[in-house]
Amino acid sequence: MHAASRIIVGVTGSVAAYKAAELVRRLQARGAQVRVVMTEAAEAFVTPLTFQALSGHPVRGALLDPQGEAGMDHITLARWADAVVVAPASADFLARLRAGLADDLLSTLCLATRAPVYLAPAMNQVMWHHPATQDNVATLRGRGCRFIGPNDGGQACGEVGPGRMSEPAEIVTRILDAAGGALRGEHWVITAGPTREPLDPVRFLSNRSSGRMGFALAQAAAQSGAQVSLISGPVALDTPQGVRRHDVETAQQMLEAVMAVAPEAEVFIGCAAVADVRPARYQPVKLGKAALGESLPLARNPDILASVTALTQPPFTVGFAAETDDLEARARAKLRSKNLDMIAANLVGRPGLGFEADRNELLLLWSDGKEHLGPADKAALATTLIDRIVTHREAIRPSANTGI
Ligand code: PMT
Repeated sequence: MHAASRIIVGVTGSVAAYKAAELVRRLQARGAQVRVVMTEAAEAFVTPLTFQALSGHPVRGALLDPQGEAGMDHITLARWADAVVVAPASADFLARLRAGLADDLLSTLCLATRAPVYLAPAMNQVMWHHPATQDNVATLRGRGCRFIGPNDGGQACGEVGPGRMSEPAEIVTRILDAAGGALRGEHWVITAGPTREPLDPVRFLSNRSSGRMGFALAQAAAQSGAQVSLISGPVALDTPQGVRRHDVETAQQMLEAVMAVAPEAEVFIGCAAVADVRPARYQPVKLGKAALGESLPLARNPDILASVTALTQPPFTVGFAAETDDLEARARAKLRSKNLDMIAANLVGRPGLGFEADRNELLLLWSDGKEHLGPADKAALATTLIDRIVTHREAIRPSANTGI
């Protein structure tokens, strides 16, 4: 689907209804035409006037609205849409959609349209886990509805778990970019995981990276239509669909694999936790206790990011910084010293975030800007990060191989 799409945003009764205002604004900023349809319950959370002011069009709610039916009736509206996105989609709305009810305009539109229907659920995590809701979701998925989220995290009711509506940026990326592929024709190179620096055939130096953050980025870029080369250290993860994976072990091997593809790439993201040093000498036979000694001579590994940015025509380059303190200052120093376009900094060493965890929190920095992303699960964070790269890259470095 391209930017000039016609999109119906359906808003149902949930505390997340306020986020739909940002969704409308972001869709319009990407050139989409938007019409908003609200359920009666949604109006208890946000007023139709908010959406009318944002979209510049009257907001529809009732099915039997003489004025609405005289203008764009429900069938015309259903045919007009290139996509319908219900965000937030409450548990009640999912149940009504599954039952095929047509007792208000939004449920009727979902029945009457041939356009794809996206659903971004939002509800308490116990309601989300309830077998009735899960059964409704499975049935609706089977009928072709496309679910976005829900995400994991703190909820308005004070509980923690799945049920938070996905962030508007993530929803926009899924709707506008996935089908048509906003990144189609672009080559993105992404590194992930740790490197392993052998001392002898049985011992090595390494770190705690699981590869999850880098694999999530590869998946999100591929879903947006990019051709993705994922260069991964040793991890226990499946290759995301549509991604070309190249497995390596050491920093030197990762450098060689990256340099073979980076000169032709539009974007390079260095998410791997590359070992800065390696044992100075590799011993081809297992070292006995006596031969190990008490200190280990080390040698510096090549810096992969710096090698990429030293290319004559480097891709738009995004680094990561894993820090335990002084996050912004240290990350800014890396942004400058490695000549990066952007850097995603994470404070590591906190339980449940960063290395090995499913969730992360990032401070994204570029020469004259910054933005906090998350905390969120790594899949959602990856989608948001890719959205921000696409949004800012032209302003940050107009000369990059952006293909636009
Ligand atoms: O893999 P997960 O378990 O999902 O965890 C994700 C993560 C914490 C590993 C990830 O979010 C992250 O922070 N990755 C970068 C880790 C790291 O090595 O940070 P650093 O501050 O030491 O390195 C800075 C940057 O230089 C990184 O982009 C790194 O890829 C790059 N680098 C480092 C050394 C080197 N020799 N060459 C490099 O290119």
